[in-house]
Amino acid sequence: MDSATIRKQCIQFFAGQGHTIVPSSSLVPSDPSVLLTTAGMQQFKPYYTGEADPEKDFGSKNTASIQKSFRTSDIDEVGDETHLTFFEMVGNFSFGGYFKEETIKLAHEFITKVMELPISYVTIFKGSDMVPKDEESRQIWNSLGVNDVREEDIQDVFWGPTGNSGPCGPTTEIYCKNAAGKDVEIWNCVFNQFFYPGSREELLAGTPGKELEPLTTPGVDTGMGLERLAMISQNAKNIFDTDLFHPLIQSLPAGVDPRKKRIIADHVRGIVFLLADGVRPSNKGAGYILRRLARRVMVYEKTEIIPAHVIQSMVHEVIHDYGEFYPELLKEADVIRTEIEAERGKFGKTLERGMKELEKIGQISVSDAFRLYETYGLPYEVIKEIGGEKTDDVTREGFDAEFLKHQEISRAGVEKKFGGHGLLLDTGELKAGSEEELKIVTRLHTATHLLNAALRKVLGDSVEQRGSDITAERTRFDFLFPRKLTSDEIAKVEELVNYAIQKDFLMTIQELPLDEAKKSGALFFYKGHYPERVKVYTVGNEFETFSKELCGGPHVARTSEIGKFKIVKEEASSAGVRRIRAIVL
Ligand code: SER
Repeated sequence: MDSATIRKQCIQFFAGQGHTIVPSSSLVPSDPSVLLTTAGMQQFKPYYTGEADPEKDFGSKNTASIQKSFRTSDIDEVGDETHLTFFEMVGNFSFGGYFKEETIKLAHEFITKVMELPISYVTIFKGSDMVPKDEESRQIWNSLGVNDVREEDIQDVFWGPTGNSGPCGPTTEIYCKNAAGKDVEIWNCVFNQFFYPGSREELLAGTPGKELEPLTTPGVDTGMGLERLAMISQNAKNIFDTDLFHPLIQSLPAGVDPRKKRIIADHVRGIVFLLADGVRPSNKGAGYILRRLARRVMVYEKTEIIPAHVIQSMVHEVIHDYGEFYPELLKEADVIRTEIEAERGKFGKTLERGMKELEKIGQISVSDAFRLYETYGLPYEVIKEIGGEKTDDVTREGFDAEFLKHQEISRAGVEKKFGGHGLLLDTGELKAGSEEELKIVTRLHTATHLLNAALRKVLGDSVEQRGSDITAERTRFDFLFPRKLTSDEIAKVEELVNYAIQKDFLMTIQELPLDEAKKSGALFFYKGHYPERVKVYTVGNEFETFSKELCGGPHVARTSEIGKFKIVKEEASSAGVRRIRAIVL
């Protein structure tokens, strides 16, 4: 079945089963806690929580859509057989209309009857501390004759929430075999039973104080990748071997490495759709994602892996092929072309110098890579692409951490300029701009005490604090130590801090004269200017004192409030001084 027919079949099927068809929302979501639209359910969030009434807005409790979606989390995977940045997600949704039985029956009927495809196997949620096993879904699948039902854990088959909070729940996924004999997940059916007042990371970390709450009306949110469905239906070995990509791949010279062809085809689609939804190339947020895609494909042009005119003709192809279903592409066609030209112009000016510079450097370090980004506008992917083996030391994590560090430096610059005004808290060590930030900074502050103590336990008493700086994003801790920490040491320190968190130790505060406090063995900062009487903050219980430090607060009352502690970076700060950056989840 060609992709246009598949889209039609999806719409007809769900409309015929009492769903209101809702147009795709923009790739730029109205929910400010998410950068880009990553799933069909996003535009429906308020209907799950009861804030909006589906019957009033759609005349039905059940809807379906084909949603433009974009996942940056998959960007490094693009080039393989199943991953994309931009993709189309077919989905049906119910806000109290139907639940597990109807959902599974609909999915089964669509795949096996409408698409006439065999199901390879399905998965269900095996249960966790918080949620019981989804036995009901297994029984429904069995009743339909699907007996290969595999159990998976919370990482794989528990969906959501997206953004800072939202609906979530166990899922059942459908796998089909592609022409290469590989099982590919094509449909994910989420049973939104809960609301979680935090992010997915917080949920997986089991953040104290944040519990799953039952949703007033359990809802359904399903998502099926159109590209993957087309792959199975067209008996293709990978998503690029479908009519959705054929014309794009074919416009590239035959000799180009297939992986590069896929990246170019994926990115060109992404660029066109992002531009059509109003994203413009820039150095932050969605604009930066667009810029990265654009520059990556432009580098292939500049290095003559592909001819210069090819991108524009691929852009034209995307607008033409997808314009019927997504008319915004036709409407914005001129803007799309002009914006791409403008970006090409900007990039072209510095790219050559950047490439020369890159050639000059031997092995490239993370800070070299960042300098190449800052001076010549070469994004991570481009540096990896042109640098090849020379960039083996440059990882996505390392580069992102460097990026973050520089953003912090520029933010710190702004704070200085404005004299720190507008900050709710600024002790010199701790900075918070709002109540919400204050809460995170407080957790990070106690975590920093635990870190200090853990470092001494692992590396010995010669470890001495040399400075710390805490913002809502992270804690940065400098300490005296003569060499780089091994990954084993880092893991041990992290483990110890998490041990102290999990022990749920109490934070106790005692006021003492300075001398006495120092004699008590409490740690203090050699450069600190302390008053006559000081406060000693102790973490521990009747059996164990984990940490004891002179401090002015603020701190959490119990260590479990900190959540999960994670070291993101260890590096040299100056001679003999190491620097650790850590976050709490
Ligand atoms: N929200 C789920 C997903 O993205 C199902 O639509 O997989």
